[in-house]
Amino acid sequence: MRRVRTAALISGRGSNMEALIRAAADPDYPAEIVLVLANRPDADGLATAAAAGVPAEAIDHRPFGKDREAHERVLDARLRDAGVELVALAGYMRVLTPFLVRAWAGRMVNIHPSLLPLYPGLHTHARALAAGDADAGCTVHMVTEGVDEGPILGQARVPILAGDTPDTLAARVLAEEHRLYPQCLAELARRIRAA
Ligand code: GRF
Repeated sequence: MRRVRTAALISGRGSNMEALIRAAADPDYPAEIVLVLANRPDADGLATAAAAGVPAEAIDHRPFGKDREAHERVLDARLRDAGVELVALAGYMRVLTPFLVRAWAGRMVNIHPSLLPLYPGLHTHARALAAGDADAGCTVHMVTEGVDEGPILGQARVPILAGDTPDTLAARVLAEEHRLYPQCLAELARRIRAA
């Protein structure tokens, strides 16, 4: 069976990217991770990807200054050049312009560390703790023009425990992210393959 050519976009650690690469090491997994791109040359995940044998490159956003779309046009060209069909944002810490979102409509997915629609944006764990929530979690969703707003593909929930800090909660959620993201990406890849 053909596998859907998938790229991961990262900005830092890349542990979700690593979970996707690990899942895709199974030849029966419906997506293949063919490229990792980072917007920062110092993203730790670049070395992780390279060590796993996945081509990993930085396309630094800084030389583009405030012209986010110009940076995205270079990213988009690189993705197309690599024959990418599906893009997984994995801790990619840039708000996208409508250009890239439209270019990959229906073929770009993101993971967010909250139970959307709760807590879009940053500092999700601190916000869940401050609100006194009983649980927290993560969401995989399609990328649309509104930040963290697209159709939800899947969610995982964890309890918030007495004494939790943003860091302890983040670690509990992250373990679920690493399970959820490969599952949701596989479902989407199967759908794209069948289309
Ligand atoms: C994850 O919590 C992800 O949900 C969020 O940014 C974090 C990235 O972590 N979007 P990593 O780079 O995947 O380790």
